[in-house]
Amino acid sequence: MTDVKPYLSAADIAARVRALGDRISSDYAGGSIVVVPVLKGSFVFAADLVRAITVPVEIDFLAVRSYEGTESSGVVRLTHDLDRSIEGRDVLLVEDIVDTGLTIDYLLGNLATRRPRSLRVAALLHKPARTKVVVPIDYLGFEIDDVFVVGYGLDDDRGGRRHLPYIGALEPAALDPGARVR
Ligand code: IMP
Repeated sequence: MTDVKPYLSAADIAARVRALGDRISSDYAGGSIVVVPVLKGSFVFAADLVRAITVPVEIDFLAVRSYEGTESSGVVRLTHDLDRSIEGRDVLLVEDIVDTGLTIDYLLGNLATRRPRSLRVAALLHKPARTKVVVPIDYLGFEIDDVFVVGYGLDDDRGGRRHLPYIGALEPAALDPGARVR
């Protein structure tokens, strides 16, 4: 599509995801992880990441809605909760993009009340320029500019580009107010 500029290639993403998987596998060596992808944007990243992890994993999903309109409202709502208890478990929250930080901040607070043994964050992308709340990112793929990116499973409103194997940046003219709604 003409309005999407290539930003991160499939090969670059794959190499970085493999490196993250190696680090995670060595950090949790001898243990097991409950991997918690935050739907929907992280489903492709999470699918690749778990296959790069060599320690045993279980998967449980969370879904949130964090935006109403173009700007973050600061209100994060859980729309799908975990199926199982995480008490005493090593939990790895998997997020596609840390933008303002509000979503991860909310989720870390929420999950901490369930008394996991440990709670860490893996995020494919981080936009430091948009930070409103500083959150810990234990495993980060790439820091990126303040651009709206699509592809590789990322939220795209009705743009129809979630399946692209690479990440593309939308040209400013292609940005529309609905684009930030999950
Ligand atoms: P935060 O609460 O502002 O950190 O929002 C993070 C969420 O906003 C991400 O998980 C994405 O779902 C969404 N998001 C932020 N920037 C982008 C983008 O450039 N493309 C697709 N989704 C985005």
